[in-house]
Amino acid sequence: MKTIFSGIQPSGVITLGNYIGAIRQFIELQEDYDCYFCVVDQHAITVPQDRLKLRKNIRSLAALYIAAGLDPQKATLFVQSEVPAHAQAAWMLQCISYIGELERMTQFKDKSDGKDAVSAGLLTYPPLMAADILLYGADLVPVGEDQKQHLELTRDLAERFNNRYNDIFTIPEVRIPKVGARVMSLQDPTKKMSKSDENQRAFITMLDEPKQIEKKIKSAVTDSEGIVQFDQTNKPGVSNLLTIYSILGNKSIKELEEMYVGKGYGDFKTDLAEVVLNYITPIQERFYQLVDSKELDDILDEGAVKAAAKANKMVKKMENAMGLGRKRR
Ligand code: TYM
Repeated sequence: MKTIFSGIQPSGVITLGNYIGAIRQFIELQEDYDCYFCVVDQHAITVPQDRLKLRKNIRSLAALYIAAGLDPQKATLFVQSEVPAHAQAAWMLQCISYIGELERMTQFKDKSDGKDAVSAGLLTYPPLMAADILLYGADLVPVGEDQKQHLELTRDLAERFNNRYNDIFTIPEVRIPKVGARVMSLQDPTKKMSKSDENQRAFITMLDEPKQIEKKIKSAVTDSEGIVQFDQTNKPGVSNLLTIYSILGNKSIKELEEMYVGKGYGDFKTDLAEVVLNYITPIQERFYQLVDSKELDDILDEGAVKAAAKANKMVKKMENAMGLGRKRR
């Protein structure tokens, strides 16, 4: 059976973008693969975090994975910092990464741009991500479009390690959804929707209240044409809303365009808000049952044990390949 690994940062409450680009794929894939899904809290501390908020977000993210349909009987769900193998493997992979290639990562450039106090962790974040993936021998990594470059680096590092030391890593393939791989900001549809955006109206989180969702959709930036039509270049705002509507409302873009012929953005947005609410409400209900439960702790405890069992074996192989520690007699 092929293996899948993916992770999400608990750097805020996850957005519709994370759901559509990533979690939706996870739910589908858990049926046919040996899946490992992770709350990557060590990635989140590459930028400053409030400790209490981080703790809350870690739990919330784990609960949301399950509330959205992840089945702990089928997939292994765990918190990254609870499996020390990730940090161990990340160090070894940092030692074969070049500063130049890390500095060329778009996400590093974006996040460090104009700042004078940039953490070393922000630079060495991609080898940690590579460690996450390579530890489990993942064949496939489902992510949104923005993670593609990190996946390419992961493949490069795996090949470099295999050539230089020993052929121990599987070279993972990226899996990006055909539709919804890049859900855009509601306030600036040329930018991706991000949970760390300073403008709260730019994103919808999976835990937003009905009133907030309605308001955010009503105030989403569109254009002055008043025609509901998909045109990524000239109508990025409307096209983004159409994509969200199409995925959550289970209708093709064409069907939607036909439904709104002769109607303005007002009707379109009112209906979209209803579609989003109908989709999100049952997820929220399950979330609130789970988030403070012992059930969630049990799932994560078990997940960490299962993940560690697999990851520790790979750490040993890596250490052996690199000549670390003593050879056991
Ligand atoms: P993160 O936490 O930024 O995002 C989690 C997942 O959501 C996808 N995503 C989106 N998809 C569509 N539209 C958007 N606007 C949008 N925003 C985010 C991301 O592509 C991602 O799949 N470095 C990763 C986390 C990570 C990871 C890993 C992923 C750490 N280790 C190993 C895969 C494998 C990140 O910051 O994702």
